[in-house]
Amino acid sequence: MSLFSLKDKSILITGSSKGIGKSIAHQSALMGANVIISSRKLDACEATAKEINDDIGEEVAFPIACNIADDDQLKNLVDKTIDTLGSIDTLICNAATNTFMGSMLDMSIEQFDKVMHNNIRSNQLLCNLCLPSMIEKEDGSIIIISSIAAIKGSPMLGAYNISKAADVMIVKNIAAEFGHKNIRANSIAPGLIKTDFAKGLWENPDILKAVLQTNPMKRIGDPDEIAGAAIMLSSKAGNYINGQTIVIDGGTIAVG
Ligand SMILES: NC(=O)c1ccc[n+]([C@@H]2O[C@H](COP(=O)([O-])OP(=O)(O)OC[C@H]3O[C@@H](n4cnc5c(N)ncnc54)[C@H](OP(=O)(O)O)[C@@H]3O)[C@@H](O)[C@H]2O)c1
Repeated sequence: MSLFSLKDKSILITGSSKGIGKSIAHQSALMGANVIISSRKLDACEATAKEINDDIGEEVAFPIACNIADDDQLKNLVDKTIDTLGSIDTLICNAATNTFMGSMLDMSIEQFDKVMHNNIRSNQLLCNLCLPSMIEKEDGSIIIISSIAAIKGSPMLGAYNISKAADVMIVKNIAAEFGHKNIRANSIAPGLIKTDFAKGLWENPDILKAVLQTNPMKRIGDPDEIAGAAIMLSSKAGNYINGQTIVIDGGTIAVG
């Protein structure tokens, strides 16, 4: 069997009705995984699950609505995932929030709190909900979709950057505490990717020009270009990768 096979793996991905999460779900399903499709909108999750199931030719994608801002919904997501798939081999914390673009001086503290709540607190809680069963079976992979925003300061995405840097530390802490239980925890840090979330950046010609100036490949990324790293980290190929941040940005950080 291929090192990258995901046969019989159960993968829970938040924010997987579209964008990077959807691509990870679809590509993981193509590698043999059963996947939970989750977002705030059940109809969007159902449509994505159907699209994946139609492509694979069997039921491997299952929709469960969950707003990551809500603790009870996170608990329900984990319970329902275990009911549906039997276990969680990989947790992928992908959904995130950005409430504000501009100077930190103009950002309200409520907007700041919302970003911290969804991007840090909810991810930590979701990890905590999934870890006990992973520890019990002494196997599990946790992936948080961070960003190169975790590495470089920004004059207009300050709170988001802080939250993405914290995500890098959440996985390092899990790696440190639970590595001996065969739990691997890593983050993936994409550069600018063509999704709705980042439309405000890539649709703005001035911002796009500035981004491309520092990108040696002179193009932004595609969601499928993030999925491969997630497959690796969920599969046997990633069994000894722990506490890392995999940057996928066309080389921007490397040359910047
Ligand atoms: N695109 C980029 O350039 C880029 C770069 C670096 C990192 N990232 C990170 O990549 C991840 C995915 O972003 P994306 O670009 O793929 O975004 P996207 O295309 O907008 O997709 C976001 C997904 O998350 C769901 N979602 C949003 N808020 C949610 C909430 N409160 N609870 C549950 N689900 C929620 C959305 O569905 P609903 O709206 O229906 O809930 C959707 O399924 C994020 O962590 C983002 O920070 C993106």
